[in-house]
Amino acid sequence: MTIRLTILCENSVARPFGLLGEHGFACYLETPQGNYLFDTGQGQTLVPNARHLGKELGAIEALLISHGHYDHTGALPQVLEGCNGLDIYGHPDIFAKRYWEMEGHRRYVGIPFQREYLDALGARFHLNRELVEVGPGVYLTGEIPRRNAWEKGDSRLVADTATGETRQPDPLADDLSMVVSTPRGLLLVLGCAHAGLINIIDYVTEKFGDERIHAVVGGTHMGFSGEEQFEATLDLLDRLQIEKVGVSHCTGLPKAAQLSARLGERFFFGNVGTVLEI
Ligand SMILES: [Fe+2]
Ligand SMILES: [Fe+2]
Repeated sequence: MTIRLTILCENSVARPFGLLGEHGFACYLETPQGNYLFDTGQGQTLVPNARHLGKELGAIEALLISHGHYDHTGALPQVLEGCNGLDIYGHPDIFAKRYWEMEGHRRYVGIPFQREYLDALGARFHLNRELVEVGPGVYLTGEIPRRNAWEKGDSRLVADTATGETRQPDPLADDLSMVVSTPRGLLLVLGCAHAGLINIIDYVTEKFGDERIHAVVGGTHMGFSGEEQFEATLDLLDRLQIEKVGVSHCTGLPKAAQLSARLGERFFFGNVGTVLEI
């Protein structure tokens, strides 16, 4: 049996009929030992897209949350309503109060539910700062150390501390990625890569030793990165000879086009309905 990753929520769709796009990200992982959901999108497309693509949301072993932004957590109640209790893995900061600020406007962009509400719907939260093996060969990275000078974060994303001060940019310490062990190497799945793709790859390389990264899929946040960061990221993806790079969501078309030009056949768009089999 292969490892199969299917994108269920993304900004655009990869097939001509029946699928819906929304700003957000979610994907469905099938492994020989069970199925997992990584993120939920913002809530309008997960259920219809999963139904259309034949992915059973009630048959998952666990839900992995990349970070506490609305566009990755908005369908949490819908997922919980289809399960009889569910293990949910993430970082303790996923419930932080966070906002998007620009030109005097402030919009709430955090997780749109109270923890108590989700608990009442059957959520069993496992919130952890360390690397966790969620199931056989399926991992959530834990907190990513921020080590390089290029990946500064997005200054429009801010967060409130417990004492009511605003932190700018939001440190987004809860930005985690999923790592799946496959016969061809590691599959690295990103939510938004707020921690910086180079930081994430460095940490995964450190934690998984000699296992090479075969594929990277998901939101890269490169649409908001400076040229220095973008060039350094391109160099790294090239140098590591990652065989499949499927970008989604916060990558944006201009950066995706540059990635495609540089990576050639190794590049693909990760839209709703895109399937990667390893
Ligand atoms: Fe996002
Ligand atoms: Fe995000």
